[in-house]
Amino acid sequence: MSTPPSKPAAKDSAIGGQPIWYPYTQMKNAPPPLSVERAEGVYLHTSDGRKILDGISSWWVNIHGHNHPRLNQALREQADRFAQVIFAGFTHEPAVLLANELVQRSPSNLTHVFFSDNGSTSVEVALKMAYQSWKNRGEADRNLFVAFDHAYHGDTFGAMAVGGVDVFHSAYSELFFEVRRAKSPSRLAGNPGAEDLEKILEEEGDKVAAVIMEPMVQAAGGMIIWPREFLCRVRELTAHHGIPLIADEVFTGFGRTGKMFACQHGPIEPDIMCLSKAITGGYLPLAATLASEEIYQAFLSDDRRKTLFHGHSFTGNALACAVALESLALLDETGLDRVQSLETLFRERLARLESLPVVDEIRVIGGLAVAELHPEKNTGYLDARGPRMAQAFLQRGILLRPLGNVLYFLPPYAITDEQAHGVFDEIEEVLSHE
Ligand SMILES: Cc1ncc(COP(=O)(O)O)c(C=O)c1O
Repeated sequence: MSTPPSKPAAKDSAIGGQPIWYPYTQMKNAPPPLSVERAEGVYLHTSDGRKILDGISSWWVNIHGHNHPRLNQALREQADRFAQVIFAGFTHEPAVLLANELVQRSPSNLTHVFFSDNGSTSVEVALKMAYQSWKNRGEADRNLFVAFDHAYHGDTFGAMAVGGVDVFHSAYSELFFEVRRAKSPSRLAGNPGAEDLEKILEEEGDKVAAVIMEPMVQAAGGMIIWPREFLCRVRELTAHHGIPLIADEVFTGFGRTGKMFACQHGPIEPDIMCLSKAITGGYLPLAATLASEEIYQAFLSDDRRKTLFHGHSFTGNALACAVALESLALLDETGLDRVQSLETLFRERLARLESLPVVDEIRVIGGLAVAELHPEKNTGYLDARGPRMAQAFLQRGILLRPLGNVLYFLPPYAITDEQAHGVFDEIEEVLSHE
C-alpha cells in the first residue's frame, strides 16, 4: 500500500521507517521488531528466515501453542456463522456456554460473568463493580482501594491506580484515585506476613471499597511468588472486615500455576475475579470479570441509575468466545497434568542454575520458572541486564523478555520436554556469561 501523498512518511527515527508506535518500547533506540510470518506450536517463524522459540507464550497468553488445528477450526466454524454482534439486548450461544463453563470451573461463590476484552478492562470492571455495589446499597463513603506493593493490574487509569510498579505508572500518579498500599510478602520486603494489610483494615476498613490482589504470583512486578498462607490470610482479613476481595487472575488463570485458578491454591473464594490472557488460548482478545451473588444483587433495582454502566463495542465477541470454549476443552484433555510435569522439569533445571554467581534466587510455580539475578544497576525493570539478555536469547533463537534482572521462562504448555531442556541449556550458557 503506498503512503497517501498528503501525509509525510514516518521519520527516520521510527522503527524501520514504520508509522507504528509499539507498546512498552522506547522508540528512540529499540532494536527493529522481528516480523512474524507464520507461527506453529512453540515457534515463531520470521520473514528473515529465523525460527524463534516463544519462551513467554507471546506475552503470557498462549497455552496450547500457535496455529493449533482445534482452535483454528473453532474460529473458522464461528466465523462462518457470524463474528460479532451487539451484546446488549442480544446474546449468542458461544457467550452463554462460555459463561457457564467459567462459572463451573471457578470458586463456587462466583456466579455471574461480565465480558470485556483485555486484562486491564477486566480490572476496571472489577473496581467499578466493587465501588458501585457499596453506593447502590447506600454506603457512599467507601472511596478507598487497597492494593499491594509490586502489584500490576494493567495500564488503564483504574488499573494503574491500584498498580504498585512505579516505573510504569508514576508519570500519571497525580491523576489516580486514593489507594492504600500494603506490603507484599516478597523476599524484597523482608517476607512479612499480612500485618500491614491487617493494620490498614483496622484503621480504615470502613472506608475501603475493595482489596485487590494477584493471587500466588505478582507477575509484571517481578514474578514474585507468594506463599499460599498469605493468600488465605488476605481472604480471612477481608472477610472479617466485610470487604470484597478482587482476585486478579489475568496472569495466573487457566492453569499457569498448576491449578485452574490460583485462588484454588488456598483454596479461597474471592468476591470478584478477573480473567483474560490465556482465556482464548492466546488467540483473540477477551476478558471476563466474575462476581459473587452478593455483588450482583447490589445492582438489581427499579432505579435505572443502579445499572452497571460499563460496556465495550466488542464485549462478548463471538469469535473469541467460541475459541475460548475450545481452549477450555483442550485444557480438560491435557492442560493441568502437563503444567505439573513442567513444574517438575523446571525445578530440576533451575536447581542447576542456583550455583551460578549471577543468580540470586530461583523460584517456580506450575508453568513459570524464575531466576532472579543480582542487579547490575537500577534494580527492577530498568536493570540493564534485561534488554541485554533479551538480545542474547534472541540470537540463540529464543524469545525471553526479562523484567530487568528477573529472568523468567513461561512457555506454552504444549512445549515438549526436549524443547524445554534446550531452553535451559541456553539459559545456563547465557547466565554463565552475565
Ligand atoms: C495480573 C495482571 N492483570 C492485568 C493485566 C493487564 O492485562 P492486559 O495487558 O491484557 O490489559 C496484566 C498484564 O500483564 C496482568 O499480569
